Amino acid sequence: MADTLVAASDHAGLTLRAEAVKAARARGVEVEDLGPFTADSVDYPDFAVRVGEALAAGRARFGLLVCGTGIGMSITANKLAGVRAALCRTEYEARMARAHNDANVLCLGERVTGAGLATAIVEAFLATPFEGGRHARRVEKVNALDR
Ligand code: RB5
Repeated sequence: MADTLVAASDHAGLTLRAEAVKAARARGVEVEDLGPFTADSVDYPDFAVRVGEALAAGRARFGLLVCGTGIGMSITANKLAGVRAALCRTEYEARMARAHNDANVLCLGERVTGAGLATAIVEAFLATPFEGGRHARRVEKVNALDR
């Protein structure tokens, strides 16, 4: 469970999702890739929901969602119970999303972030533990807002 990730994208995130999945697998993370597997246009909420369902079912510890900007995926994912999704553009944000927010879903935007930086972001996200302490109280307050 510690090293498991469930990934999905829309058509605009297809290529970067493949890069991110490759980066995760290179770290020894077991990845369940939920697609899509063609470039046909799809709706990002449908794929965000699939990742949320996989996390809720306990199939993975982390989620990865990629769309054109990462914005639609993050908006959608954060409506799903148990999801704390972070749209990250920098390694620093990825580290802080884990260390302070205990984020469990990483969102990326293919039209915004290049493959090299995305790889570094994925590695930072997966490598950084939650700090707990005062942050745990805050994350509990966030979790309590699940409806
Ligand atoms: C698709 O064109 C695009 O709107 C979508 O990938 C995403 O960027 C939405 O937030």
